[in-house]
Parts: sequence; structure tokens; C-alpha cells
Amino acid sequence: MADLRPATPEDADAIGDVWFAAWKDGHLGLVPEELVRVRTPESFRERAAGKVPGATVAEVDGGIAGFVVVADDEVEQVFVAAEHRGSGIAAQLLAAAEEQLRASGHETAWLAVVPGNARARAFYEREGWRDDGALEYEAAGPDGPIAVPTRRYVKRL
Ligand SMILES: CC(C)(COP(=O)(O)OP(=O)(O)OC[C@H]1O[C@@H](n2cnc3c(N)ncnc32)[C@H](O)[C@@H]1OP(=O)(O)O)[C@@H](O)C(=O)NCCC(=O)NCCS
Repeated sequence: MADLRPATPEDADAIGDVWFAAWKDGHLGLVPEELVRVRTPESFRERAAGKVPGATVAEVDGGIAGFVVVADDEVEQVFVAAEHRGSGIAAQLLAAAEEQLRASGHETAWLAVVPGNARARAFYEREGWRDDGALEYEAAGPDGPIAVPTRRYVKRL
């Protein structure tokens, strides 16, 4: 189990580094090359700084093992460092995100996952989420959104 707490601006670089490595694990070969080209290590640190207000981090031994970000009724990011996968931290983070959305008055939450990300899909399904169909996700890019084919998952809170 990890200690969960809201992210602070000082966490941004550490979140960005966990995000970059974990993003590659879940997305390389599964998303358009155009997206891979713009997802540099620096881009994750920059984006992490902007995500701090909606982010919760999981700490283990003083380091960031993973994080989750909510935005409106979306669980926007769920990323756990490779060495902490299979430990239950991801479920802890997802439950915290769901609780945050429930407390904000949302009755249903959604998230997007790329079709080939089998581990993430199995994880979401085990945690009570269901596949609600195909969704073309507008991923943020430096020159505007990049369309990424995804599956939309939903859960009643
Ligand atoms: C997605 C993620 C947060 C899930 O956390 P996790 O700690 O790996 O999740 P868990 O180990 O608790 O659950 C994963 C489940 O998938 C199963 N699994 C593992 N590899 C799998 C594979 N290749 N295909 C299908 N299922 C797989 C596991 O056995 C486990 O199921 P079980 O508990 O029924 O045995 C984590 O894997 C991660 O950060 N991945 C990289 C980033 C990413 O893809 N983020 C999500 C973006 S939408």
C-alpha cells in the first residue's frame, strides 16, 4: 500500500518522469506515430506541471510510485511505475479518483484507453469499469489536438 496525497507543484518533474516511462509501456506501437514524436520527456514534465491541480500521487519510501489525474468527470490519467505494478497501488489510485469525482457530484465517470493496452483494460474491467464503445480521443499536442483511436470506459459511481 502507498500513501496517497494531492500533488504539489514541487512534484511536477517526478510525476513527469513516471508518466513518460509508463506512457511508453502502455502506448508505444499502439498509438499514431505523430503522437509518439511529440511525447518527449520534456513534454511530460511540462504537461505534469499543468496537471498538478487535479492530480493525486502515491508515495512509497518518499518517492512517487504513481499518480492519477481527474478533470471534470474524466479519469484522465492513471500511471504506475513498472516496479510498482501488480502491487495494488493502481487500484488505490483509481478508487481515490472515483471518490473525488463522486464527492464533486458526478454520478458516472469515464476514461479513454487505447484498444491494444490489454493490461490497462483488464485492470479497469476488474475494478468495475465497462467498455462503452469506440472513441476518437483528442490528445493534446503542441500544434493542436491529435486524434487517437481509443475505447471509452465508464463506471457508475
Ligand atoms: C494500467 C496500470 C495503471 C494498471 O496498474 P497495475 O498495477 O499494472 O494493475 P494490476 O496489476 O492491479 O492489474 C492488471 C491486471 O491485468 C492483468 N494483466 C497483466 N498483463 C496483462 C496483459 N498483457 N494482458 C491482459 N491482462 C494482463 C493482470 O494479471 C491483472 O489482472 P488480475 O489482477 O486479474 O491478475 C499500469 O499497468 C500502468 O501504469 N501501465 C502503463 C501506463 C498505462 O497504460 N496507463 C493507463 C493508460 S489508459
